Amino acid sequence: MAMIAHKCADHTVTVVDINQARIDAWNSAELPIYEPELDEVVKAARGKNLFFSTDVDTSIREAEIVFISVNTPTKTYGVGAGRAADLRFIEKCARKIAEVSDGDKIVVEKSTLPVRTAESIKRILEANSKGRDFQILSNPEFLAEGTAIADLQNPDRVLIGGDQTPAGLAAIKKLVDVYAAWVPSDKILTTNVWSSELSKLTANAFLAQRISSINAISALCEATGANVDEVANAIGTDSRIGPKFLKSSVGFGGSCFQKDILNLVYLCDHFGLPDVANYWHGVIAMNDYQKHRFARRVVSTLFNTVSDKKIAVLGFAFKKDTNDTRESAAIYICQDLIDEQANIAIYDPKVTAQQIRQDLKVDEQNPHVTICEDAYEATKDAHAVLILTEWDEFKALDYKRIYDQMQLPAFLFDGRNLLDLEQLNQIGFEASGIGRG
Ligand code: UDX
Repeated sequence: MAMIAHKCADHTVTVVDINQARIDAWNSAELPIYEPELDEVVKAARGKNLFFSTDVDTSIREAEIVFISVNTPTKTYGVGAGRAADLRFIEKCARKIAEVSDGDKIVVEKSTLPVRTAESIKRILEANSKGRDFQILSNPEFLAEGTAIADLQNPDRVLIGGDQTPAGLAAIKKLVDVYAAWVPSDKILTTNVWSSELSKLTANAFLAQRISSINAISALCEATGANVDEVANAIGTDSRIGPKFLKSSVGFGGSCFQKDILNLVYLCDHFGLPDVANYWHGVIAMNDYQKHRFARRVVSTLFNTVSDKKIAVLGFAFKKDTNDTRESAAIYICQDLIDEQANIAIYDPKVTAQQIRQDLKVDEQNPHVTICEDAYEATKDAHAVLILTEWDEFKALDYKRIYDQMQLPAFLFDGRNLLDLEQLNQIGFEASGIGRG
């Protein structure tokens, strides 16, 4: 919304939430999320044509277009628990829009939703329409965290799905016009609603599948003496495969991949396609395998026990340049090591101590988890160092200094293939990466 406000000076954008603290944060000097360049974009438009408010009713009433951008977490209860998307927040929004609107509205699904959700929103709105016309569009977001501003500024495509009726096409045109302020028209794709909804899930499933595929090969590389980065490079030069999203790692995290694949799996089951469901579920199973495999390797390398050993964890976010930890591989790896009674010392440049403790379900008194101010504090007297997020600053650390203050043998496990292992081994480390036999 900040980007729309920034690019479309003649439109007024009001972001509403019922959470006062969150809105206050958006109105303050310190925004509630860390994202490179977001500060500049928000601060340039805030107070001019970008507003943050808790006055949900008035804002809906005054708007021509309402974007629904609420959480759609994986359901934790009842039918479809663990797989289906929890749509209660979406439904609440739809009912709110129906309740307070006093004219026609275009309602845009921005949240990632299961296929045919637009139909549910439409039914709720139409049942309560009292003569008003509601057009539902699907406009999934493809930005990635850490590069959100660049992705929004220069998207590969903008996707807009809507009813293929005269009123639906007119609504699509209205939203196309918003994006056309900065996105070239050949990059604005329009489809029917269901294709748009399904494209979002499919895009994330394909991206995650590439990571699971290369991670599967990384295990084979370790067994055979091949180097997964060399394999990735060799296959990535095939223009049909392409080089992106082939970086082997401790496993993908983030708020989208797992949730969206689970959602896809649930949909396939629902529509009587268990073989298709199983196929996609394999992507998640491989990701789980990769996370646990990494933790197991740490334990086995440290002479089969990490009990009471200090393990330094560098990086807790699910990727660099974000403070987001949702589904971060680091959570699972730390939990496995805590189960083995290791003492872990964690440092991340952006994630707060409170967030880390919450993710690991430990309090400040827990003797197994220490949160550190920097990488040197975390690695002091450690038996092993684990790189779990590919933060640039980890490349610039003084590894000689780190080595000199560690227990020997000093093990280093680079879960992101970020560092030069040869250099580290020259210093004296017993360093290993992912997928390097
Ligand atoms: C993803 C999609 O990329 C984006 O289009 C969608 O809108 C939301 O979900 P995001 O979760 O922010 O974005 O991050 P992404 O860059 O896709 O990374 C996801 C995870 O995969 C991270 O944990 C990352 O470290 C990992 N990853 C990514 C790899 O392990 N290897 C790779 O080659 C790429």
